[in-house]
Amino acid sequence: MNYVYSSIMDYLRPSPVAEMLKMASDPELLSFAGGMPDATLFPVEHLRESFDLSLREHGAKALQYSVAEGLPSLRQKICDRMLRAGIDCEIENVLLTQGGTQGIDLSAAIFLDRGDTILCENPTYMGAMGPFDVRDVNYVSVDMDEEGMRMDALEQRLREHPEAKLIYVIPDFQNPTGVTMTVERRRRIVELAREYDVLILEDNPYRELRFDHDELPAIKSFDTEGRVIFLGTFSKTLCPGMRLGWVVAEKEVINNMTTLRAATDMQCSSIAMYAADFFLEHADFDGHIRTVRDAYAMKKERMIEVMQATFPQDVSFTNPDGGIFLWLTFPQKVDAGLMLRELVIPKARAAYMPGEAFYCQAPHRNTCRLNYSGRTLEEIERGISAMGEVFRQVF
Ligand SMILES: Cc1ncc(COP(=O)(O)O)c(C=O)c1O
Repeated sequence: MNYVYSSIMDYLRPSPVAEMLKMASDPELLSFAGGMPDATLFPVEHLRESFDLSLREHGAKALQYSVAEGLPSLRQKICDRMLRAGIDCEIENVLLTQGGTQGIDLSAAIFLDRGDTILCENPTYMGAMGPFDVRDVNYVSVDMDEEGMRMDALEQRLREHPEAKLIYVIPDFQNPTGVTMTVERRRRIVELAREYDVLILEDNPYRELRFDHDELPAIKSFDTEGRVIFLGTFSKTLCPGMRLGWVVAEKEVINNMTTLRAATDMQCSSIAMYAADFFLEHADFDGHIRTVRDAYAMKKERMIEVMQATFPQDVSFTNPDGGIFLWLTFPQKVDAGLMLRELVIPKARAAYMPGEAFYCQAPHRNTCRLNYSGRTLEEIERGISAMGEVFRQVF
């Protein structure tokens, strides 16, 4: 059969790192390339009980079709939790989605036409580029520093691109850099979005994984006119396999997203929604998040200690206050992808994710991302010090 595919398929570029990821998936290899939560921390017993009790209490209803917006009682619990981020919303402002990924896709689908301009952090989350790529958007990148997206750079880009429609931003423990945007910049980005009349898509999967201070107010907390669409997910705090996330936005936006999702995947899994609702009602979710946070804080600390002890001086790295990733910058001349293939995988038997995958415009090839959540303390020590040994031979 000679299949004639739709034009969307032209925009789905095979990822330049797909081959490297395949190499990194060798079980013999200590890979820090992915973004897996620590599965040993999944609250398996409590979730088993939650599924069980959902079926006992709700019976066939938990297995029946539900409403496209998602279970009202779970949406109400999300509203209650959103108050901690400074977001005051009602259940009509909340749509449950299949993870944060569907929130990105629905936002792109209802707002972006082919050729529309969007602004992204430089670097940005490569998983978001799939939904944006298939809409053939025009990417404009905005430089970051240790306080997140730079507001002077954003203003300049907005001036250069008055046609820009949306800013995509990850303010807390950004994927890939681990950097957090300051409160001042959160306030400012909303002011700039108003001044230049653009939407903000605030993608915030890691907000509750802050190691030692209180969580910062979300960008959406400064929004008074419905300009910010907030995306949340249970993937990193509970588990990714239930595929539960949410969008918080104006009712009109939620209604449009709901109409579209009803036409594509109808709804989230009923039983998964009931079980998550049960879990939030009866288990100690905050206590569970504290356990996850403490474990990740310890892993990050260990990774930083080993890097400080074994990496050459001219490799710099971020030291995140939360989340699951940190970011390395090698000397300018280094191609991190090449070094991974030719030296790090064969000699250190370890892997990182080359940074080039995270740039929507000109990639900085001398960068890479490391994940610490998915490995044990012992594996972190072994894999990172082996990488350090290779780096010391190269630089
Ligand atoms: C920045 C960011 N957004 C969204 C997601 C999507 O997560 P999920 O669809 O599993 O909720 C991730 C997952 O790694 C992420 O890092």
